[in-house]
Amino acid sequence: MPTDTWFPLAIYRSDLPEAPAHKKVLLETVLAMEEAVTERRNFPEMAWTGDLHGVAQIHQDPRFAWIVEQVEHHTLQYLEELGLDVSQVALYIQRAWPVVSRYQQEVGTHCHNTAHISAVYYVSVPNSGSDESGCLVFFDQMRPNEVCPGLGSENTNIVASWNALNQDQAVYEPTEGRLIIFPAKQQHGVTFNHTEAERVSLSFDIVLTAAPGQAAGAYEFLSPPPSQWQRFGTRETGG
Ligand SMILES: [Fe+2]
Repeated sequence: MPTDTWFPLAIYRSDLPEAPAHKKVLLETVLAMEEAVTERRNFPEMAWTGDLHGVAQIHQDPRFAWIVEQVEHHTLQYLEELGLDVSQVALYIQRAWPVVSRYQQEVGTHCHNTAHISAVYYVSVPNSGSDESGCLVFFDQMRPNEVCPGLGSENTNIVASWNALNQDQAVYEPTEGRLIIFPAKQQHGVTFNHTEAERVSLSFDIVLTAAPGQAAGAYEFLSPPPSQWQRFGTRETGG
């Protein structure tokens, strides 16, 4: 008897052919950015992330122009694969930051609540293609086949074998030059870097709004473009 599977999570992946030509500049730039920040704002077992250290606008830095262009191009490809009419949306890179993971550092489980699409690009990976320097792991929050909620948790051994129908995570070994794009709301984390060398990646958060002039029926699902927003609630300081 067949068992059908439905409702796939779509993770986009592309190995960028021009990556080797850009590695040196990107790597040197990120490491210099990290070094310029003197105050460490997260625990030592966590990777250094630019967003926590005031380095979250690299998309506006011309030294990152190549990868920004790649992220934009591939995000459109991804959205078209998802069946969207991209002519009706406006896309914005909202923030972008480097991540440097050193020996025995990880990134805890999280999702990017203020964005719609997230992307990661691997600039430099020790033992690229292996799991040694920390894997990107996506966690299935829905667990549609977990017939008793929690049955697959670590507190029981009732799930006797793990297979494609009860899989609760998807693991990507870090690969130098690879771009991965995924829904920002999808929970994910990065496992420990067990190598002596640093793993360097770039993260991007992308927001979709309605395209100007495409309002009909869209504003219930997409924000109007930020150019139409009006800020209020700011207070004069001093005086
Ligand atoms: Fe993330």
